[in-house]
Amino acid sequence: MNDMVIGVTTPKYGATESFTRKAGLDTGPVPIDSYVSPEFFELERQRVFGRAWLCMGRVDQLPEIHSYFVKEVAVCKASVLVTRNQNDKIQAFHNVCAHRGNLVVPTACGKSQRLRCDYHGWTYQSSGELIGVPDQQNFFDLDKKQCGLTPIATGLWEGWIFINLQSKPEVSLEEFLGPYGKAFAGVPFGKDHEILIIEAKFNANWKLIMDAFAEAYHVQAIHPNTLAPGFSHPQDNKYARPLSGDTFGLHSSWSAFGNPEYVTPPQSHVERLACKVDTGGLLGSDVNEEVLKLRAHPAVNPTKAPWWSADVTSIFPNFNIDFSTGGYWTHEFWPLARDRTHWILRICIPKASSVRHRLQLEHYAARWCEVVLEDVTNCERIQRGLESGARKEMILQDGEFMIRHHQATLRKWVGAESAADAMK
Ligand code: FES
Ligand SMILES: [Fe+2]
Repeated sequence: MNDMVIGVTTPKYGATESFTRKAGLDTGPVPIDSYVSPEFFELERQRVFGRAWLCMGRVDQLPEIHSYFVKEVAVCKASVLVTRNQNDKIQAFHNVCAHRGNLVVPTACGKSQRLRCDYHGWTYQSSGELIGVPDQQNFFDLDKKQCGLTPIATGLWEGWIFINLQSKPEVSLEEFLGPYGKAFAGVPFGKDHEILIIEAKFNANWKLIMDAFAEAYHVQAIHPNTLAPGFSHPQDNKYARPLSGDTFGLHSSWSAFGNPEYVTPPQSHVERLACKVDTGGLLGSDVNEEVLKLRAHPAVNPTKAPWWSADVTSIFPNFNIDFSTGGYWTHEFWPLARDRTHWILRICIPKASSVRHRLQLEHYAARWCEVVLEDVTNCERIQRGLESGARKEMILQDGEFMIRHHQATLRKWVGAESAADAMK
């Protein structure tokens, strides 16, 4: 080790540029009204969630023709039915019966050739057409063609399903994803993963949960025993400064450092048994073909530094896709109210190829649970702190640039009369 000042990121282990300045963001304090103001929340509902493309899930969730799932987008009061129709096309609809408005599909997911509303039995195809009306003769000139499920604009990007709740989206999905869509095109997301889902509801604004995963500055304080040994270096990167940080139009990413000198502690018997130590070992995995392909993509670990542990990438407004030496995971941050959030983490784990790999993946999943529980510890306390009115602003450092960028983008969307203007 050298005798540098503790905590300063060296060229050896990280970037020396300012991510905030590179992104063209200012460096002053940031107002906190977006976390507490009812008026701001109302504008977010209408102007952000009502106009942005929103990720509903992955094509794998619709494995067969006639598979469907329902996603409640409470912030827009929408119940969204996503189907793979009889022609193998993925479509989204309002899950609302044309007869008298009952929610047609009451279950979260399934497979059915016919979607039958259980109030009076109107029946729809998975392509939305109304095909069955009991006692149709007793209606007045009923035109079944006009009474299909109300479609929602749907788009696919690299196997991710997006919807837009504008009746005619002003901005295409391609424009919306912009440089992010291009940079991450071709990422091998793979298939047939085992999915570990962790979800919870919190009495906190949705952005507070999102912010908890937007920086590594908290690693030393929040994760001293779980992540800090692998994600920081006692002398050369004590505060886990990122290796890189980039913005892609509305979206952003940063790359987390992994301590190449991390050694599994002798008392961590399961970890010793399970893990071949990799950069950022705690979230590392056996080097299998799938993970190697993922790591080879130019946008994943963009610096290609060997002391990399993970990338956090944020798709505006509320969806993260994160990559690590062990695979990838996603976060969804859904507002339920100004101060209430539904958070869903989906960890995609490659299928085990050996007993040792199985043990390693179980360890990976268990460690994840520990880490994310630490991450969300503070969110309700922060909400209370912000609600107190004691502070009007927050102070962000360079490693927190993703929060600053998200706030700036959000403010732009909230202030713009149209989505097209917000994109300018
Ligand atoms: S409300 Fe659906 S059949 Fe009547
Ligand atoms: Fe964390």
